[in-house]
Amino acid sequence: MLIELESVTKIYNKGRPNEVKALTGVSLTIEPQTMVCLKGASGSGKSTLLSIVGCVFPPTSGRASIAGKQLSRLPDRFLTIHRRETIGFIFQQFNILPGLTVMDNITLPLLPLGVSPRERRKKARILTEQLSITHRENFLANQISGGELQRVAIARALINNPPIILADEPTAHLDSRLSMEFMSIMNDLRLAGKTIIIASHDTLVTDHPQVHHIVGVKDGRIHVP
Ligand SMILES: Nc1ncnc2c1ncn2[C@@H]1O[C@H](COP(=O)(O)OP(=O)(O)O)[C@@H](O)[C@H]1O
Ligand SMILES: [Mg+2]
Repeated sequence: MLIELESVTKIYNKGRPNEVKALTGVSLTIEPQTMVCLKGASGSGKSTLLSIVGCVFPPTSGRASIAGKQLSRLPDRFLTIHRRETIGFIFQQFNILPGLTVMDNITLPLLPLGVSPRERRKKARILTEQLSITHRENFLANQISGGELQRVAIARALINNPPIILADEPTAHLDSRLSMEFMSIMNDLRLAGKTIIIASHDTLVTDHPQVHHIVGVKDGRIHVP
């Protein structure tokens, strides 16, 4: 099993007055090479769930096994290493740095790994070619279109060749054409062997024919409608 959560709970600010129980008793398994959608209202716990699957933090209680590692057993430093090797993250706002070139944005995750500039460019070139943005490599990120920005975000998520791609409300700032294009790229990646998990309440995503499983999230619990 690629991803296995068992009775996962996440409490933010535990024991403090601002304590929030974001996830309660979440059990979930995700097979390799599937496309899964986490569907739920704002505040239901989708991003928190993605953060646990994305090895950002371990659950407060319960077990989370991601690509063969039990998160609670990993010291912080190893959690970070595991995340870098395993997870590609695509955010709602894409989190692209506007003052950097497309090339520098894409290769950013390689900096802490000590990959040489030449090797970084080589890896990025393969992705910019796949995603048809090679002609934008030297543009500043604030000089390209929304659709190109989305592709830069996808390329950056792929640069470490992670088996798992997580996307948090990726279509929130895209029109319907670009949203469908996003889903089509995700499907291609899945066919190429990736496992894709998308948190969204956009029906273009949740009703997409290539989504294998829809996991309903409600008030921090998996919700079977
Ligand atoms: N860093 C945080 N600190 C405290 N509470 C948080 C934090 N992140 C999220 N929450 C709370 O946890 C709950 C679930 O949030 P979230 O996972 O972001 O839901 P969704 O992504 O579905 O909107 C919400 O009540 C939210 O306010
Ligand atoms: Mg969210």
